[in-house]
Order: sequence, then structure tokens, then C-alpha cells
Amino acid sequence: MQIKDQLGAALGVTVEGFDHTTASEADIQALKAAVYTKKIAVLKGQDLTPEQFLALGRRLGRPETYYEPMYKHPDVPEIFVSSNVPENGKQIGVPKTGKFWHADYQFMPDPFGITLIYPQVVPEKNRGTYFIDMGKAYERLPEELKKEIATTRCRHSVRKYFKIRPHDVYRPISEIIEEVETKTPPVVQPTTFTHPMTGETVLYISEGFTVGIEDAAGEPLDEELLKRLFEATGQLDESFEHEGIHLQSFEKGDLLVWDNRSLIHRARHTTTPEPTVSHRVTVHDERRLYDGMRAA
Ligand SMILES: [Fe+2]
Repeated sequence: MQIKDQLGAALGVTVEGFDHTTASEADIQALKAAVYTKKIAVLKGQDLTPEQFLALGRRLGRPETYYEPMYKHPDVPEIFVSSNVPENGKQIGVPKTGKFWHADYQFMPDPFGITLIYPQVVPEKNRGTYFIDMGKAYERLPEELKKEIATTRCRHSVRKYFKIRPHDVYRPISEIIEEVETKTPPVVQPTTFTHPMTGETVLYISEGFTVGIEDAAGEPLDEELLKRLFEATGQLDESFEHEGIHLQSFEKGDLLVWDNRSLIHRARHTTTPEPTVSHRVTVHDERRLYDGMRAA
């Protein structure tokens, strides 16, 4: 196994010669260390069945199965499927997922540390996923803004981007909203936390899932503060030219592993829809999102 920095990029490594069936425990630890410090590892030349992809994920941690069944792979429920390519006339998984800035499971009480994406059908033109390193983004914040958010907390919810399911057709929207709020009530996390694996400070907010900010006593603060944070970190830049935004490309056979604590990501916007299919496995590592987190 060979780990090399991605040339010309602020983050990311490529990993050649990784085979999850023969990798030693030391290899796995080296891979995870690269994921935490370099944020994205692109495993090259992977040729895996869904079962093998899950087995690879298990080497890195404990898989978390997505809570909404419509995303599940028909044979391997731990795999989340994003697809706009029907199989035998049947929709598998969900099309157009994640076209907004977010960290996976940010709206849940116990988010996992590592996300793995294994593209199956790779688009020709609009290839790649956008990322922002929210550790670096925090470092770049003006000192005043850092002070302003020091003891604050943020509220995260799936409500803005919850996807209507087939059985929601003909249901009143108020009933669906009520179900979302009951099943996945907003969670409150500190606005910044210390990354348990690297010690860096992470600004844990995203335009997609963060819906409010409050002071240490739980009093809501002006939404303008959140907007300033989104603006400063590049999340409102629709041209994707902000210095903090990294476009990670991939080709068939690549398998992306990333640090879901400090990276937020966003699916690339496509004006002309192209066939795209990717499989996702998400895993909890040895630590919670941050040390001292309340029990889920
Ligand atoms: Fe995602």
C-alpha cells in the first residue's frame, strides 16, 4: 500500500495497492490516520461487489445503516444508494442526493466519523464532489468572529432537505413535517469542537442542516451570525470559486474515504442530467464525534 499526497490540491491523498482482504492492522491505521489528517483518501483500482464494499467499510469501523429505508441497497441494507439510473424499470435508491452543503448525519444525535463513497456509474461531464475543510475554515475566521461564537451552540435538522417518500404522496404536508420533527428532532451541538483524532478545532455547521444558533444559556441568537459564518466559509458561493472549496474528482475504480467530522460536502450541480450511481457506507470509528459528547 502506497499513500501519496494529491498533487496540486490542498487536501487529499491517493492510495495505491490497497486490498481490504489482505491489509494489515497497521495498514488500516495508516489509512485512517491519512483520512483524519489529509481529510480525503482516494483508494485506486477498487473492484468490489456491494458485499465486498461493506466488508471494506467494516475494516474501518462499525457501519451505520441509513434511517430512511428508501435509500437502501436491495441486497446490502448498510449501503446507501444514490442513483438516477433505474434497474429493470425500477428506481433503486434515491436520485439527486446531497446537492447542498452538509456533513453526513449532522442532524442526528450520534454522527459517524467516516464516510466511504464508491462511484458505480461515473458521469462524463459533471464529475466530482465539492468539499470544504471546516477545520481550515475555522482557522481562517477573523478573530472577532471566533470570539463571538466561542460558547455558542448550533441546532441541526434535516427539515429543509427531507426527501418526500413514495408513500408520502397524497399525505398533507403538515403531517409529513410533524413526522420529521418527531422522528428526527433538531439536535444541538457546540458550534466548534475539538477533533478527537487531530486536536484541531472544527466549525461544525452547514448551510443544509444547521437551522439555528444559540448562546450558552440556550437563547436563540440572530440568524445573521449563522449567515456570516456560511458566507465566510464559502457556503454561499454559488460559483464554487471560494478559496476554501475543493473539487474532488474521481474515476471508475476510485473509492473515496473522508473525514466526516471536519469536512462538509456537496454534490456537484448538473445542468444536463447524466446517469450517476454511487454507493455509500458510513462507519463509526473508536471515538464519538467529539470527546465529552452527551450519550445518544
Ligand atoms: Fe452526503
